[in-house]
Amino acid sequence: MLKDNATTIGTPVPRIDGPYKTTGTAKYSSDHNFPGMLHAAPVCATIAKGKITGIDTTVAEAMRGVVKIYHYGNAPHLYRPIPRDARVDEARPAFEDENVYYSGQYVAVVVAETIEQARAAARAVKVAYAAEKPDNSPDLSDGLQEDALHEAYKRGDVDGAFALGAVKIDATYVTPVETHNPMELHASVATYDNGKFVLYETTQSIVNHRSAMAQMLGVPVENVQIIMKFLGSGFGGKLWVWQHSLLAASAARDLRRPVKLVTDRHSQFTNVGHRPRTQQRLRLAATAEGKLSCIQHDYSSETSILDNVGENCGESTPFLWSTPNLRVRSSMSRRNVGTPTAMRGPGAVPGLFALESAMDELAIRLKMDPVQLRLLNEPEKDESNGLPFSSRHMKECLTLGAEKFGWAKRNPVVGSMKKPDGTILGWGMAGASWGAGRIPTSANFAFRDDGSVRVGCATQDIGTGTYTVFSQMVHHITGISMGRIEVALGDTSLPPGPLSGGSRVTGSLFPAIQDAVNAATKQLLQIAVNGVRSPFKGAKLDDLAFSEGRVYRKADNSASGVSFEEILRSANLRFAIGEGSSVASQQDPKAKGLSLHSFGAQFVEVEWDPGIARLRVSRVVTVIDGGQIINLKAATNQVEGAIVMGVGMGLLEETIYDQRYGHPVNANYADYLVATHADCPPAIDVTFLDYPDKAMSEIGARGIGEIGLAGVAPAITAAVYHASGVRVRELPVRMEDLL
Ligand code: MOS
Repeated sequence: MLKDNATTIGTPVPRIDGPYKTTGTAKYSSDHNFPGMLHAAPVCATIAKGKITGIDTTVAEAMRGVVKIYHYGNAPHLYRPIPRDARVDEARPAFEDENVYYSGQYVAVVVAETIEQARAAARAVKVAYAAEKPDNSPDLSDGLQEDALHEAYKRGDVDGAFALGAVKIDATYVTPVETHNPMELHASVATYDNGKFVLYETTQSIVNHRSAMAQMLGVPVENVQIIMKFLGSGFGGKLWVWQHSLLAASAARDLRRPVKLVTDRHSQFTNVGHRPRTQQRLRLAATAEGKLSCIQHDYSSETSILDNVGENCGESTPFLWSTPNLRVRSSMSRRNVGTPTAMRGPGAVPGLFALESAMDELAIRLKMDPVQLRLLNEPEKDESNGLPFSSRHMKECLTLGAEKFGWAKRNPVVGSMKKPDGTILGWGMAGASWGAGRIPTSANFAFRDDGSVRVGCATQDIGTGTYTVFSQMVHHITGISMGRIEVALGDTSLPPGPLSGGSRVTGSLFPAIQDAVNAATKQLLQIAVNGVRSPFKGAKLDDLAFSEGRVYRKADNSASGVSFEEILRSANLRFAIGEGSSVASQQDPKAKGLSLHSFGAQFVEVEWDPGIARLRVSRVVTVIDGGQIINLKAATNQVEGAIVMGVGMGLLEETIYDQRYGHPVNANYADYLVATHADCPPAIDVTFLDYPDKAMSEIGARGIGEIGLAGVAPAITAAVYHASGVRVRELPVRMEDLL
């Protein structure tokens, strides 16, 4: 059914949701209001460890507009989720007991008629604590002790190879706590009627959100509907359920009135996850010619007291470069912090900072060009499991990136590349990878008698362009123009679709849509054959075909056919409908014997002015091997955004905890630095190689949300070294590191 001439695939199609966002008509979750709606404001723990010894709500309860105040002594029961059926990183429901494990933990929630009344009363709730000294030590060496480390992966003999190595690197790298700061705050508007919840949430997975909420509220899953039509981004921080959703839903049920809870900016730093701090030791050895003989990657990531959410830093290590001896060991260091969670490229991104920094250091010690070192250690297959890569073009990423950047003109001598004004240029690079694969997906599709079609799937557009990509895929399959395609997402009453995480949505959609369109087309052709007034009445099903929105006799061409809406009208039917699904790539015979990943190379130029200690990323060239790109505009935009996020990771972002009290001290937009326009590299050059990955689907898309961030930070620190001679192994790079 694919037609070469009926494609917008790979072109820069503008977003179909763009006009709704730019005109303010897009309704985000907290834009929903209902008659009688109440507002909730949490009370947050002012200690990071200890117990609540008393809660006095008498003053707060007497304040105007206050309806109810909940805390562990009086709150309706909430359950923990079953991990197999629902993912929630912070499993302990709020108010489970009197214990406090981190600063900002919800200890009470005030529900009132207005948000101002709720917030004022929340400040008037008096909580007494028995405080203990929290552990917020940034040093994660406890996790790197021999007896703390668990082996995650091993091949060959690392210790033997390291002992014999001609050239070696043994260095420790640190990445800080980073906090997701989407523009749109986490929010929940909960309605409850007749035993059923309809919840307007900020989530990257409406399907998981429904299962988790049902379990934690203790109701059947069919009693919960999640709606989320637009998201103001998430970066992984909105993948799983956080406590504010439970507080809103639980209060709505108890009070039989809709409840809105919008979290504040401060609580983005305490209650809704963060990328945990990591400390990683890399040991690399190579022959004098630069062939890697071993890689050892040991790391610990900070986690909370109660949960086991770690940063999988060894994600890319076992397969990125070729070496016979490799070991990854991991651990977690418990601290009094809110539960960490996934942030864009979880595991791989901090892991690659360490691995690719060590590769750069190795290249320098070898007196070898860092691009050459990587080309020399390109694996033939995935050496972690012996499987062929489905589609790996890392060498082309490296060579094309080098060419576009002008890498051949690089003088490797530190500080040698000066601009006429005296500013020193630093050029650095790094490799990148991110996993690929399909998540089981289902979708439905309807031809309608008004000439439009509708595709539906309980997935969501988190701001990345999913509505548009969906529409492009339907157009690609059916030939029907995008203006006649309605895309329905963001509602759990639709067939279950993928979470918007791991860059998996785009790659997962196509086979399910194709299957749904096929099923609907089959029904349409049957209607054509059987419809009372159908022009094809009595024809043989096998003699008919469908293309470009028309049913026609195979003997003729499609232009001679009859439009689907006429076929439906001739049978007095509103729809021809079909449901479709696809399995996970691990279950797909086309994919399961293959190793699926995206790859990339990052080339960075920094400008370093030692006279005034000014450091800027001035130029980035990135080449991404992410399978077939569906929408060049949205994809380029994703990678440009990722690179800006990489500048933040490299130079700016870090959540700092007070060592005495465990509070995040820079928990606001002023003190937590994210890259602004002024920090953006003036030139970002994004190239996609566009090799379709047929193990993913016929269309060959893999997804590109996270790969753009991978490798940016180590390329920046490599460039900083080239400019200044200082190797920064602990992010972010600070001015004082370079003085
Ligand atoms: Mo991404 S961190 O999987 O939303």
